[in-house]
Amino acid sequence: MRCTTLVSLAVAVAVAQSLAVPVSPNEEPSAITKRDLQGLIDSLRDGIELDDIKQSVLPDFLSWDYTTNEIQEKLGMGGIILDRLPMEFLNIPGYANYSNGQWVLRIHGQSYKQALPINGEPSPVSQSALDNAANVFLPDVDIAELPSNEQANARNLTSAVLSIPQGDVSLDFTVRISSTQPQSDFPSTGGWENRFTWPRRTDSRGEIDGFVSLYSTASGQLPSGQTSDGIVRLDITTPSTSTGNATAYLVPPEGYTILSDIDDILRVTKIYTPKEGLLNTFARDFVPWLNMPEIFATWASQHPDNPYHFHYLTTTPEQATRMYEDFIYATYPQGSFDTRPLNFTTFDQTFNVRRTLLNKILETFPRRRFILVGDTTNSDVMTHYPAVAQEFPNVHCILMRNTSATDPENRFPYNTKGFKELDERRYMFFRTPEDLRGLDFGRGDCRKPGLEERVSGGWMGLPWGGERGDAAAAGGKEKVWWVVYAAVGVVGIMTGF
Ligand SMILES: *[C@@H]1O[C@H](CO)[C@@H](O)[C@H](O)[C@H]1NC(C)=O
Ligand SMILES: *[C@@H]1O[C@H](CO)[C@@H](O)[C@H](O)[C@H]1NC(C)=O
Ligand SMILES: *[C@@H]1O[C@H](CO)[C@@H](O)[C@H](O)[C@H]1NC(C)=O
Ligand SMILES: *[C@@H]1O[C@H](CO)[C@@H](O)[C@H](O)[C@H]1NC(C)=O
Ligand SMILES: *[C@@H]1O[C@H](CO)[C@@H](O)[C@H](O)[C@H]1NC(C)=O
Repeated sequence: MRCTTLVSLAVAVAVAQSLAVPVSPNEEPSAITKRDLQGLIDSLRDGIELDDIKQSVLPDFLSWDYTTNEIQEKLGMGGIILDRLPMEFLNIPGYANYSNGQWVLRIHGQSYKQALPINGEPSPVSQSALDNAANVFLPDVDIAELPSNEQANARNLTSAVLSIPQGDVSLDFTVRISSTQPQSDFPSTGGWENRFTWPRRTDSRGEIDGFVSLYSTASGQLPSGQTSDGIVRLDITTPSTSTGNATAYLVPPEGYTILSDIDDILRVTKIYTPKEGLLNTFARDFVPWLNMPEIFATWASQHPDNPYHFHYLTTTPEQATRMYEDFIYATYPQGSFDTRPLNFTTFDQTFNVRRTLLNKILETFPRRRFILVGDTTNSDVMTHYPAVAQEFPNVHCILMRNTSATDPENRFPYNTKGFKELDERRYMFFRTPEDLRGLDFGRGDCRKPGLEERVSGGWMGLPWGGERGDAAAAGGKEKVWWVVYAAVGVVGIMTGF
């Protein structure tokens, strides 16, 4: 087994995602077969100089599979130690809609064990084992050469990536109304509490995902589902773990939801230069993109009578959720999250993740108005945002950062086909956060007059400065990188990394 194959996280998966073979959303989802994968590779190979592809990657591709034992082996952990590690639960901040007179809350997350020091005992994983694993994610640099904060980040995320899913776990939850409710006028009813056991055990990847009804009790009422209550924050605890605390949000049926991607729009990732992307994800502290936090803060306070709901939807793998969440909660308005689940049961779940997640939230809030925020370097965003805008009338506006306009290093071409087909009053391409200042969605805004913007309807930002209307246009060395990353990304997807 080759280490290079492990280079599957954020960047690789994002690229794999962006190159996914398009599938009609109405097509019946089916289990993924090796033939699907072979098809994907064949389509990627089109126009590729095969000699440029590192021989090591593709041949390994179909046989590669990390098992729990292999992860343990990689980290130098024995089975006995695994038993002693505490059960953890990643509780991803969810949302609740008001449906037929009841609040229905989405809970999603993953049970896992992670190789971190156990209280008062020597660490179950030696630092050198963790460092060896971290080095796999750090192109051209050894973890020892990094400043100490970056070493800590790299060990932290590596250990999260190599966490071991725990299937067949029964989970209990306690839900209360939060005593800190920045976005709501609803009086905190200290007495209200719901406790329940999740109706299903975690699946083989440790995950649960579903909706549960909440109800008022003798000691406290839930909000009435009126917009005047604002977004009411809930605190959820998972009593059997110490890491399962999370927030969730009661979101009224009407109002505005700002749904934003994270990489290269809320933080500087440079996913389009793979090495930088990996360093920015695995080692460096997360850095917000220019003054975007200030613009979001303005939006958070724009309509105190019915505040916007914020939802952060990224296809970063689930294991990195905590890092993304810590960054967002420290920098941007609080809100619910979606990251890339490990559930790869169907083709859509694997290759149309963003579309699947967008559909879910758009269907859950048919009367809210959505503002979708993203950037041109994510080709799944370029495809799926305009597609859902065609299908769902509740998409009010799409705001796209034109990454090429401010970052000459960006060599990712982007396809504007979907936007050409969309009413131009429903989207805007912008250059810097300043271009968004003053937009008031509650007043119906989407575009700002006077911005330089030009949608060709085909590929734009091609390496040689050209434009073409067909998908075959993207080529050259970049595409070789895409294949390498896409291949390992697919492997990552298949094996739950
Ligand atoms: C995984 O996907 C399958 C197929 O869509 C679904 O039946 C199952 O409930 C999903 N599991 C979780 C935990 O979401
Ligand atoms: C989780 O929430 C519970 C209940 O509010 C609290 O007692 C506990 O300290 C929290 N745990 C952590 C790790 O914050
Ligand atoms: C590791 O990551 C977790 C989750 O983001 C965070 O709470 C913790 O502070 C991090 N530790 C270090 C040393 O960065
Ligand atoms: C609330 O969300 C659930 C789950 O997506 C959906 O079935 C239901 O129709 C939604 N309620 C309303 C009023 O749209
Ligand atoms: C993005 O910016 C580049 C460079 O300024 C420009 O050539 C291109 O037309 C812009 N794209 C869109 C969609 O406006």
